[in-house]
Amino acid sequence: MGVFNIAVIGGDGIGPDVVAEALKVIASAGVRCETTDYDLGAARYARTGDVLPDGVLEELRDHDAILLGAVGPPVGATDVPAGVLERGLLLRLRFELDLYVNLRPCKGVPGAIAPDADICIVRENTEGPYAGEGGLLRRGTPWEVATQGSVNTRRGVERCVRFAFELARTRPRHSVTLVHKTNVLTYAGGLWGRVVDEVAAGFPGITTAYHHVDAACIYLATEPERYDVIVTDNLFGDILSDLAGAVTGGIGLAPSANLNPERTGPSLFEPVHGAAHDIVGTGRANPIAAIRSAAMMVDFLGEHEAGARINRAVLDVQSEMAARGSHMTTTAIGDAVAERLQRCR
Ligand code: IPM
Ligand code: MN
Repeated sequence: MGVFNIAVIGGDGIGPDVVAEALKVIASAGVRCETTDYDLGAARYARTGDVLPDGVLEELRDHDAILLGAVGPPVGATDVPAGVLERGLLLRLRFELDLYVNLRPCKGVPGAIAPDADICIVRENTEGPYAGEGGLLRRGTPWEVATQGSVNTRRGVERCVRFAFELARTRPRHSVTLVHKTNVLTYAGGLWGRVVDEVAAGFPGITTAYHHVDAACIYLATEPERYDVIVTDNLFGDILSDLAGAVTGGIGLAPSANLNPERTGPSLFEPVHGAAHDIVGTGRANPIAAIRSAAMMVDFLGEHEAGARINRAVLDVQSEMAARGSHMTTTAIGDAVAERLQRCR
């Protein structure tokens, strides 16, 4: 096994704490990493006005992967306007590094609303309403106009849909559901629908289905077991992955991988949850989403066995926690997972 060069963006709030546990766990799984910390996020912006300096972006490109905790100011803080970090840091990284798949596995755990669900959301990550097309006219006047377009390119949709089908091929149920709103968003939805049909023709073993996004919300809340792989656009994927995360155990457990499947640069791994400033210093931050994100990272880097072992160790620790009914602190959970990995090495 080689040594991986990992850029670490701990970020704000609970981000640095959960990332520290994730790094502890991958080290315990025997994955060797050289890490470089990058100070980015709300605190850096408030202090220096920097969001993502060009030189830092270039340095990030030189790593095997990026592990990110969470970025964002405390609720009510006024020194970081909405959108500065989202567009300037998170989306800029996704766009510049061409991280066109946002993969969000949501697997139920004992005690969750949907303990048996095993869903993988493949969220398009570089286009849709996130692309930033639009603007304001006559700002501040009674005739103000705000437009916010949705960008959907055939190439962009196709590469994401193809990833979803290839993923479904590796999973036991071989099923892909497109989620969209084709009855209203007829231009974008029409393109997605046609592309899914075209790609599906090349995957005869995969069953395909289509659900409107509103219906998909009902199914995710009431019968989430019906889904295997969901493929969807950037905004629907954002919303559905919070819902799917919530029903499968809570977003404190939900990992994500922002992937550049062609590996023309590093991919970025981050928990779905945010900076949760309200619980900083309490030990209540659950590091499992970050640990599972790190497991996705090592798996993507080729260490499949280590990734699988980390996920098994996480499940064991979760069962123990459920059986004891006890709450464990952030570091205690990281220690327990790391210790279990040591024992079954
Ligand atoms: C997520 C987050 C981001 C998104 C925000 C913080 C820009 O909600 O990763 O799901 O909308 O993609
Ligand atoms: Mn989100």
